[in-house]
Amino acid sequence: MDRMRIGYLGYGSYIPSVVVTNEDLERIVDTSDEWIQQRTGIQTRFVMNKNESVLQMAVEASKRALADAGLSPDDIGDIRVGVNTWNRFPSLATQVQYALGTKESSASDVSAGCSGFIYAVEDAFNKIVIEKMKYGRDVKTLVIGVDGLSLVVDWTDRTTCVLLADGAGAVVMGRTEDNEILATCTEAAGKYGDLLYLDEFLNNQLTGENQVCFSNEKKIDRPFLHMQGKKVFPVAVRTMISNMKKVIERYNASSSGEPIRLTDVEYVFPHQANLRIIKAIADFMKMPLESIYTDGIKKYGNTSAASIPIGYVDTLGKVKGKIVIDVAFGSGFASGAILRRA
Ligand code: COA
Repeated sequence: MDRMRIGYLGYGSYIPSVVVTNEDLERIVDTSDEWIQQRTGIQTRFVMNKNESVLQMAVEASKRALADAGLSPDDIGDIRVGVNTWNRFPSLATQVQYALGTKESSASDVSAGCSGFIYAVEDAFNKIVIEKMKYGRDVKTLVIGVDGLSLVVDWTDRTTCVLLADGAGAVVMGRTEDNEILATCTEAAGKYGDLLYLDEFLNNQLTGENQVCFSNEKKIDRPFLHMQGKKVFPVAVRTMISNMKKVIERYNASSSGEPIRLTDVEYVFPHQANLRIIKAIADFMKMPLESIYTDGIKKYGNTSAASIPIGYVDTLGKVKGKIVIDVAFGSGFASGAILRRA
């Protein structure tokens, strides 16, 4: 059997409507535009308004990815959603399936911190391979990375509220000659669980309201995200670098073609957590920053599982044909990478 080429058929993203600037944050916590830009690179971030929700962002990004692929919901056989801010069941993926009206698709969520999109792509890739090889079916999948971190941010905690934001990105995956996923890898290090975690789900917090509160009057009784950023930082850099090496090793071990070296990589989509983390990756790769996606962290902050597919849409056309690595790291710590010919 010829090599089965699986790649992306379409891309979509959704950025919510409320912009939060560093100056806005200066009004609610003891911080400054200078501190935020120097330590994180973030200039603005976007959060949901009262009419937006994690589901609605996921659906909008999906519709755009389907339109970009020239496909209809009925063409989709599986939906995978990387998400951390859907603290309920039924799963977000099933509700996306209902909202889109796909007729015959499976649907499930993947909880893997900010690496949720990478995990979901790997799951979808494996699903497409198994469906074809075992059952002879050509399946196309919809893969979404979405999060509404504004729902779980403590807007009185300056160490986290300046970093985190909302957004969604999606791809349609299937067999194609146009581009190719060459290898994926994922891993976890649960011993770091207490460095970045969410409180237990305290109350019924099922509304779409993020309750961004531009005053410190009340601390809302709901689960908050907690992070020891200084401890997370070096592990994030180490882990993302090791994932990039590993995904190349996995490709070379599984391919009879020319091996790929780190220096062959022409563009990187790192999870957008902090510009200094991204710069550390650029130094390791000996790559100019222009060859690494950085606009996301500057414009949108850390959108968690959404940051990489949002980057795809922001750079459409720019990376065509290039050897690319997507690499992410997040709570857990769950991490992973994708090696692609874009
Ligand atoms: N504004 C102003 N000062 C702030 C601040 C803010 N928003 N947040 C923290 N500070 C203060 C600290 O209280 C500390 O003050 P002190 O020296 O008086 O104690 C000082 O700034 C330095 O804090 P520190 O934590 O050492 O800063 P840092 O250089 O490590 O930057 C992070 C903090 C969070 C930006 C950085 O550690 C980081 O990005 N970590 C990785 C987090 C991450 O990416 N998580 C997601 C992974 S998916």
